[in-house]
Amino acid sequence: VLTLRPAVMDDLPVLTVLNQQLIEDQHHDNPASLTELGRRMRRWLSGAYRINIVESGGLPVAYAVWREDEDGIHLRQFYVARGRRRTGIGRASMAMLERSWQGRPVRLEVLLPNERARAFFHAIGFRDHSLVLRRDPD
Ligand SMILES: CC(C)(COP(=O)(O)OP(=O)(O)OC[C@H]1O[C@@H](n2cnc3c(N)ncnc32)[C@H](O)[C@@H]1OP(=O)(O)O)[C@@H](O)C(=O)NCCC(=O)NCCS
Repeated sequence: VLTLRPAVMDDLPVLTVLNQQLIEDQHHDNPASLTELGRRMRRWLSGAYRINIVESGGLPVAYAVWREDEDGIHLRQFYVARGRRRTGIGRASMAMLERSWQGRPVRLEVLLPNERARAFFHAIGFRDHSLVLRRDPD
């Protein structure tokens, strides 16, 4: 059975490690160190973002970072623990989050190489909406 709860400051170490795994899994080019990720997570937790942890048998199996803005819900991060994937945790966790969002529109960014995330969000009813363009400094 899965439970959803708000993260607290004591969760920072585990959230920071999960955040680093998420970055690796997405093949993101974010070079941030564990220290920097921890600081960012702390900023999020004490600022405009909300963080939820999904637990199974008292262990964290997923987390979400999100905030509400004028366009609805912006899901900044969503992660299911390695070794627990493809068992329905992502789908069930998003269903719990969406209940708490009470029908507000939800948007998120998926990096183009991340076909798994794209397939997952399509499977739970999301559709492609926009394409973000970027130019790096020379
Ligand atoms: C993407 C992610 C959240 C999916 O979580 P999950 O718990 O494995 O997903 P579920 O088991 O609930 O899958 C639900 C459906 O999504 C689709 N799906 C999930 N993983 C998939 C994959 N690797 N390939 C194709 N389809 C997939 C399937 O339709 C699946 O249903 P099925 O298993 O009955 O076929 C997880 O792989 C993850 O955390 N990845 C790393 C972090 C990440 O990329 N996050 C998203 C950033 S935008």
